[in-house]
Amino acid sequence: MNIIPKPHKYDKLGGEFTIGSQTKLFCEEIFAKQAQRFAEMVHESCGFSLTFAENIADAHIIFNKSDECAEEEYTLMIADGLATVAAADEKGCFYAVETLRQLFRLDEKQQNATYNNCYIEDRPKFAYRGLSVDICRHFFPLATLKQIVELMSRVKLNKLHLHLSDDQGFRLEVEKYPLLNSVGSVRSGSEVVENGVRFVDDKPVSGYLTKDEARQLVAFAAERMVEIIPEIDVPGHAVAMLAGYPQYCCEGSVSEVRKKWGISKDILCAGNDETYAFVKDILDEVCEVFPGNYVHLGGDEAPKDRWCNCKKCQEKVAELKLKDFEQLQTYMVEQFRKHLGEKGKTVICWNDGVHGDASEKIISQHWRAKIRQGGAKQANKGRKTIMSPFFKLYFDYPYALTPLKKTYKFNPLRGVRKSKRQNVLGVEGTMWTEYVSTTEKLFFNLLPRMLALSEVAWGTNTGEFAKRCNAYTQLYDKMGLTYFKKATVKVHKRIRIVQRFFRQNPNVELDEQNKNSEKQ
Ligand code: ACM
Ligand code: ZN
Repeated sequence: MNIIPKPHKYDKLGGEFTIGSQTKLFCEEIFAKQAQRFAEMVHESCGFSLTFAENIADAHIIFNKSDECAEEEYTLMIADGLATVAAADEKGCFYAVETLRQLFRLDEKQQNATYNNCYIEDRPKFAYRGLSVDICRHFFPLATLKQIVELMSRVKLNKLHLHLSDDQGFRLEVEKYPLLNSVGSVRSGSEVVENGVRFVDDKPVSGYLTKDEARQLVAFAAERMVEIIPEIDVPGHAVAMLAGYPQYCCEGSVSEVRKKWGISKDILCAGNDETYAFVKDILDEVCEVFPGNYVHLGGDEAPKDRWCNCKKCQEKVAELKLKDFEQLQTYMVEQFRKHLGEKGKTVICWNDGVHGDASEKIISQHWRAKIRQGGAKQANKGRKTIMSPFFKLYFDYPYALTPLKKTYKFNPLRGVRKSKRQNVLGVEGTMWTEYVSTTEKLFFNLLPRMLALSEVAWGTNTGEFAKRCNAYTQLYDKMGLTYFKKATVKVHKRIRIVQRFFRQNPNVELDEQNKNSEKQ
């Protein structure tokens, strides 16, 4: 059994089941769409069209509603010439169809599709199974984002977090503030490292999702049980917004979208009431196109240098009787959280933006390596948490630094008390794109890490992954996607690659793989 994510329970049974042109389907009404989707997969693979039986007694593949299953759970029994899916909701049925796709190799052309009899019980360990993609540092268009959603849904990941606003680009159409797009989405160069030299080049980078494109992405993702989570990072990482609207920074001094990476001291002014109205207006337009439950407000890496020197920010701290400028960030985010709360949204922030006095309604996404076991600490204190530890789930780093095994072995519940486990909503891998400017590099860094992430999220990240991973990557070959092929690399070689990654060439691993494949 080679499928990813590995199901929780899998029993091989004697005999086999063949899907042929005479095979008939039966489904309960709520699963009609999923049964149809399955029939289309079979058609694509085998060339024949399955028909639906009027009576369940005449069917060979049955999609049953079962209230015994939990949300997203499914069972699959293949025996005695029958394949029966049971699920309580459409998501469970969707995942059963994805399992059938892999079992019966419906991605391949074949005459009939055959698989051995078996019994499967499966449910995700975590409700939040995410991936984030930074389309600010480099922009990736709708077609690429759809491809990512498709790949995620194949391995039962369900949240695509889009990083839409950062110092180096603002990437969503906002009608009320057109300069966010005409100014904020364009930069005239980027920090690069070439042949050991770090410099700012003069190649323009631009692009943003129109509202129509964002809606298309949301609809495409919903069909695949993926929710899009938009992120507008505040108050830091906001230089691109401020390049269009400098009146909302403390000194009114931001003149262009940032070309260098790292952390900017120029952040949104929290002492200016108009800043609050500006951000709320943007969030209103964000909510117009992204109907999901969550909005991410960033909150990470917001240095307070400007606030300390700003009269308006100082007055705000005094007026609100706050202890310090960190509390001012908490206050600011709380205004936006309340605003979004009125629209039924739940706010997520990076953990370094969530201080003790932040609303307990804010979900903390834990990424900072510095704070040891910090995610577990927050969950133990009662805060809902998403785990994205820097050393394990940051996919922008080379495999030499973050090998697949490190991602695969991650236990999101380590250090979390048993009674607090429900506070860990799940996990998210992150794809930052400072040094990812092509889709080739994007997929190289993502694949096959996405497979490891999926098993962490489903809680089946134990044993014989390499074999299943190797089998799965045949699909990537067929799709023409670049992925990292070397399963293990010796430590001394890894150290050398990490050094070269930072000092010489951020594309070192991909370049080496391409060089090796040319030689073969
Ligand atoms: C982050 O990596 N700044 C969340
Ligand atoms: Zn200020």
